[in-house]
Amino acid sequence: MEPGNVNDVLLSCLEKNVTKPASATAEPSLSSRSSDPGNLAQRLGDAFLAVRNETERRAAPLSPEDQQIQSMPDASPTKWHRAHTTWFWEQFLLGEHAVGYRPFHPDFAFLFNSYYVSAGPRHARNHRGDITRPSADEVGAYRRYVDAAVVKFFREASADKLRALAPLVEVGLNHEQQHQELMFTDILHAFAQNPIYPSYDPDWRFPAATRSGDDWLTLNEGIHTVGHVDDGFHFDNEKPAHRALVGPVKIARNLVTNAEWLDFMQDGGYRTATLWLMDGFAAASKEDWQAPGYWREVDGAWQVMTLAGLKPVDPDAPVCHVSYYEADAFARWSGKHLPTEMEWEVAARAGQLNDAFGIVWQWTRSSYSPYPGYRAVEGALGEYNGKFMVNQLVLRGSSLATPQGHSRITYRNFFYPHHRWQFSGVRLAYYD
Ligand SMILES: [Fe+2]
Repeated sequence: MEPGNVNDVLLSCLEKNVTKPASATAEPSLSSRSSDPGNLAQRLGDAFLAVRNETERRAAPLSPEDQQIQSMPDASPTKWHRAHTTWFWEQFLLGEHAVGYRPFHPDFAFLFNSYYVSAGPRHARNHRGDITRPSADEVGAYRRYVDAAVVKFFREASADKLRALAPLVEVGLNHEQQHQELMFTDILHAFAQNPIYPSYDPDWRFPAATRSGDDWLTLNEGIHTVGHVDDGFHFDNEKPAHRALVGPVKIARNLVTNAEWLDFMQDGGYRTATLWLMDGFAAASKEDWQAPGYWREVDGAWQVMTLAGLKPVDPDAPVCHVSYYEADAFARWSGKHLPTEMEWEVAARAGQLNDAFGIVWQWTRSSYSPYPGYRAVEGALGEYNGKFMVNQLVLRGSSLATPQGHSRITYRNFFYPHHRWQFSGVRLAYYD
């Protein structure tokens, strides 16, 4: 494909999205800041290497055995994330636009294509952990080979070509950042299955929550513009911006805490069917949910598996690793509900939400659907977002695992309602 305008091309991945908290300050678009081709080549190269190095920084504490494991079908091995993000550059940038480029290995497109039907056949998602070869070292060599080719391409491409391809490069960078978050969520799930509870980083700490101001923020009835409006980077699912009727509604300024969740548990929340959606109670019963994901009761005290290993549950910390089904049941138990994504966005634009970003993604009650007028881009990258717009729920904000510079007020994350291995939490709302 030949990318067009940045607003037309940019795309988000189901296989989305650690240790720096993210802010909502998105980076300016690489393609919109300068018309100087030398400067653009330099900026593309710098941005590319910064993101590529962050992936390797996150993988560095993990042994080849750690990088091999796939602890459930929804989670992918670290080694696969490192290779798949590399394939993305090879497939969509080098293979299409670098004259004379030779792929690193003829089988890697089959092994490391995720879900792009248009890009050809691919290995089964739930068997990624079965692939012991290439080794983690060979994947490292693959990454270095592609890195060198991309940097060479930036150096040698014409100014017109670079300008035309800058939006595609931004998609590649943001795609890799989404996988950086998944590297943390997936290895935490794997380590949580291990009875000796390994730590990714013994010095890691759960981010401190903010509590200030009134507990409830009032949004009066009004018509608001929601969705992405400017030329900064965004995925296609954030557009078109449009007007929406919001309020009157009250939204919690703070995230739901572990202490509040313990009250729900002690009140029999997990056993009271009338609090739950039918599918939710079926999932909770089948999976024997009695507490948020990764909680373990040890000698009568609750502990939680974290990136630093097993730690005591901090009552003041935001609850994390809860599914939509649990969030919805908790809201019903509280006499409240979950906000819609539009209510969340309007409140976040007003700057009134504590910890909107950087700790836990917040479930909304909004189905992941196209905005009015949404059309997926043509070509393989049109598969990035549009084909997932059914049966999933939108989460807003960002998490402790989201890379720096990857968060936006209009960002729409999405997962199935039973998923709880992401860093997902709860913010409540209610109508008077
Ligand atoms: Fe991907």
